[in-house]
Amino acid sequence: MNESRKTEAVRTIENVWSCHGNFTDREISGAALETILAAAVRAATASAQQSYSIIVIDDRATMKKLTGYAGSRALVFCADGTRLSAAAKRLHLESCEDFDMNAFITWSVDTLLAAQNACIAARSLGIDSLFTNGIVRTGLDEAFETLGLPAKGCFPLITLVLGYASSAPEKRKGRLSGAGVVHRGRYAPLDEGGLGGMIAAYDDPHLNLGMGQAFVAKGYAHYLEWFYKDWMAGFPKDSGDAVAARLRRSGFLK
Ligand SMILES: Cc1cc2nc3c(=O)[nH]c(=O)nc-3n(C[C@H](O)[C@H](O)[C@H](O)COP(=O)(O)O)c2cc1C
Repeated sequence: MNESRKTEAVRTIENVWSCHGNFTDREISGAALETILAAAVRAATASAQQSYSIIVIDDRATMKKLTGYAGSRALVFCADGTRLSAAAKRLHLESCEDFDMNAFITWSVDTLLAAQNACIAARSLGIDSLFTNGIVRTGLDEAFETLGLPAKGCFPLITLVLGYASSAPEKRKGRLSGAGVVHRGRYAPLDEGGLGGMIAAYDDPHLNLGMGQAFVAKGYAHYLEWFYKDWMAGFPKDSGDAVAARLRRSGFLK
């Protein structure tokens, strides 16, 4: 994009980067936290439901235990319809516990929009952040127990760790854009040339799209070869099962 056409908001978004765990001991201020939370809840929300809960964790040991990372604060963004259903119950309304997949998707969208707002607001305040799904790796049961999450109608989707990084990355991560990502009017899968371009983009150190050049050292010809054969193969095959089991317990998955 032409630099001169960039608004302050676009510049802030372009300046967002992930701090992969190297948070210092420096704390963010209470005022900054409140600004971030206020920005989070300004996100668009389906039918005014704001179907999320944000658990603010300020104990670093708890953050580390639950997510594997620790900063000044961690915000656990949970899709959560229980607040609304409790209000509906109080009004003696029916079908207030209809926690199905449709609800899960809608509530998740609400939740993630709020989470991204928080991340951008933090950046605008000079606060570094990391999105992590570490809770899924560490164990959802542990998170439900430690955070006292309702067993039904609530699911911890993503954690945003906030703080100050000891250093910024030397080189910022790139992104794919254009054909294959953006489709004009109608879905258009990449053709052979387009796929070749995408594979080359992942391999290009200047674009810095993937997780570094580890694939070269390991003898893989392509980043994506390393990604599928090495990185993804390292995850337990049944890692989705615990999530599915929890979604069943939560009532979302029948
Ligand atoms: C759903 C999700 C989960 C992520 N989990 C982790 C994580 O557990 N550990 C980590 O270091 N980065 C994690 N990240 C951050 C990504 O690695 C990061 O966004 C990506 O490498 C691009 O880098 P950038 O944000 O600095 O541009 C996660 C990002 C998302 C969206």
